[in-house]
Amino acid sequence: MSKRKAPQESLNEGITDFLVELANYEKNVNRAVHKYNAYRKAASTISKYAHKIKTGEEAKKLIRNDDTSSSINFLTRVTGIGPAAARKFFDDGVKTLEDLKKIEHKLNHHQQIGLKYFEEFEKRIPRAEMEKMETLILGELEKIATDYIGTICGSYRRGASSSGDIDILLTHPNYTSETEKQPKLLHTVVQHFESIGFVTDTLSKGDTKYMGVCQLQPSDEDEEEYLHRRIDIRLIPKDQYYCGVLYFTGSDIFNKNMRTHALEKGFTLNEYTIRPLGVTGVAGEPLLVDSERDVFEYIQYKYREPKDRSE
Ligand code: TTP
Ligand code: MG
Repeated sequence: MSKRKAPQESLNEGITDFLVELANYEKNVNRAVHKYNAYRKAASTISKYAHKIKTGEEAKKLIRNDDTSSSINFLTRVTGIGPAAARKFFDDGVKTLEDLKKIEHKLNHHQQIGLKYFEEFEKRIPRAEMEKMETLILGELEKIATDYIGTICGSYRRGASSSGDIDILLTHPNYTSETEKQPKLLHTVVQHFESIGFVTDTLSKGDTKYMGVCQLQPSDEDEEEYLHRRIDIRLIPKDQYYCGVLYFTGSDIFNKNMRTHALEKGFTLNEYTIRPLGVTGVAGEPLLVDSERDVFEYIQYKYREPKDRSE
């Protein structure tokens, strides 16, 4: 006769009790059943662990191993799959790249392109390649019409040694927030980039924002093929251009800190405009901005070159 197994020593009882309590709180108070399940699962995983957990890292590793959240987080790495879609796929049993390939016909166009280039989009773009693309982009803009103004923003403008994507801001002197919309200014550029084979796929195309895929052609025979890269182009009215350049140069942490400083000085700053706040807290008319420096000056913030804007 086999002996009954002694109850496992509960080395991490404090943690598991706490997780169960959190689970119940999510279920009963917040009616958040997914969170409830996640906490229960974490508690169960930890209760089976035969060592006393000493660090958060240790706990994280353990929980991540079999948590639904790791599958969901993975799915959201495919461009076009946000948290809601990822959860839905997961609930339908779609958890991996292989699973996604099997249900490719159920993906929308954006997601299909995201899947097609998944590995390529995960790779960062070396600065040397970013420089080549900048030269090409600005050169082609000049060919279309000499008065286009374009800036490659994002981490590239901050001097990063590699970038995740290409963020282009575009404007034209004839286009301001007072004039009519001019989507043609954007679509002409996109069509031109397609015609020279630089833009290879489109994810979405609006009047002011284009999201797509691009690829450099090798310039001589020995050169390796370049990868497909994510490219965003935003068309911005000239009077809002420098607030846009400032915002899309980032970093996001720098932006947050600058916005906080602006508020302290009585201004509200976003990707479009800077406006003074009245005594009642109501924002006034946008201030004239003709450079990034103008924005810094309005809020008495010491000017920082893009390379010094990591935070
Ligand atoms: P990203 O392209 O997401 O960031 P990045 O260019 O700094 O980094 P990466 O090399 O990985 O592409 O966005 C561009 C800029 O837009 C970012 O630097 C700051 C701004 N931004 C915010 O301020 N908040 C945000 O939530 C996002 C997504 C961007
Ligand atoms: Mg970027």
